[in-house]
Amino acid sequence: MANINANLLRVPKSYLFRDIGNRVSAFMETHPDADIIKLGIGDAVQPIGRCIASAGAMRCADMASAEGFAGYPNEWGMMPLREAISRRVYGRAIPADNIFVSTGAKEDSGGIQDLFSLDTKVLVPNPVYPVYVNTNLMYGRTDIGYLEGNAINGFLPEIPTDIEDSCIIYLCFPNNPTGQVADRGYLKAWVDFADRTGSVIIFDAAYSAFIQSSGIPRSIFDVDGAQRVAIEIGSFSKSHSFTGIRVGWTAIGKEVELSGLKHAYKVRDLWANRQAYRTNGVSHILQAMALEALSDEGMEASRIQVAGTIHNALLMGDTLRELGLNPVGGIDAPYVWCPTPDGMSGWDFFDLLLSQCSVVCTPGEGFGTAGANHFRLSAFAHTDKVAEALERIKRLRL
Ligand code: MLT
Repeated sequence: MANINANLLRVPKSYLFRDIGNRVSAFMETHPDADIIKLGIGDAVQPIGRCIASAGAMRCADMASAEGFAGYPNEWGMMPLREAISRRVYGRAIPADNIFVSTGAKEDSGGIQDLFSLDTKVLVPNPVYPVYVNTNLMYGRTDIGYLEGNAINGFLPEIPTDIEDSCIIYLCFPNNPTGQVADRGYLKAWVDFADRTGSVIIFDAAYSAFIQSSGIPRSIFDVDGAQRVAIEIGSFSKSHSFTGIRVGWTAIGKEVELSGLKHAYKVRDLWANRQAYRTNGVSHILQAMALEALSDEGMEASRIQVAGTIHNALLMGDTLRELGLNPVGGIDAPYVWCPTPDGMSGWDFFDLLLSQCSVVCTPGEGFGTAGANHFRLSAFAHTDKVAEALERIKRLRL
């Protein structure tokens, strides 16, 4: 028998949303008539734009012609999409050469760790999207620093003043799970920290399309100095309902470097080589869909979907406040984050909502110790279902 990678045993036995899925399935077995409303995982429910579906269908049909057929979609084969992301998302501040198309933000936020030595310290906020922590544990990293977010600091953890070592810093704004956003000053302070310590920021921008408030940066690259210290991960999943289609990207700051034994290496070049070994790219059909997603028509489809999701999030926030709770987020983000009533544990509240209302939420404990006694509602749901779920929650008389 071959030996296991023992690091795999360092992570929880079941991924948070897999665990929730299993609990919901068990409930459905014993309550087959329950009308379950899922506000747990942030999974798209609105159909993709028609123009996007047509672009995919056409590209698929083209593959049956001698002129339209194409083989491996390697780095160069993905250039039109990389160009379009450079233009539409970054106003060309990040050149197409520094953008790498992938099958999604989740894959890249774990895979990016291939770049760093195993003894690099990792800094994450707490609460935190569990993928950042657990993929690092799987790699064998042991030095993970948690920065606490709470109601007092608005879930924007203080930037450490006592760390001199270079770190991998995970930031996600709009934030999953808290739905909070960061202004330019806060992000600039992180960029300055990274500059001072020789750290690299992995900036998860998967929810940037949900920012409504003016003046909030949609990208870390809107912040001075980020080209030296940041790698941004983007995605079509939440902005264009691509959760089941799978296209994302990694954008690497033009000047980000890592030090080796003798030289400094451009991260752009390291990642290009890593990708060449790890992947043959994203299918031509999905690329055509993503390219269309960035067209004016595709962006309009996204705008309508995002507006619907934000409408849901605002409804959630208003209802929770009516109930005397103190939610945050849900204004520039599809998630509403809230302390549980009477300090219940998040899992107890999850059980209460499921058993009494047939509503699924996500318990805060799933996002780390600072998530204790909190829950998250996802606004990715049909508005009538959200309204119904909120009515049921109101009837609980919390
Ligand atoms: C979430 O609901 O937080 C995530 O988007 C689900 C996931 O991709 O793991």
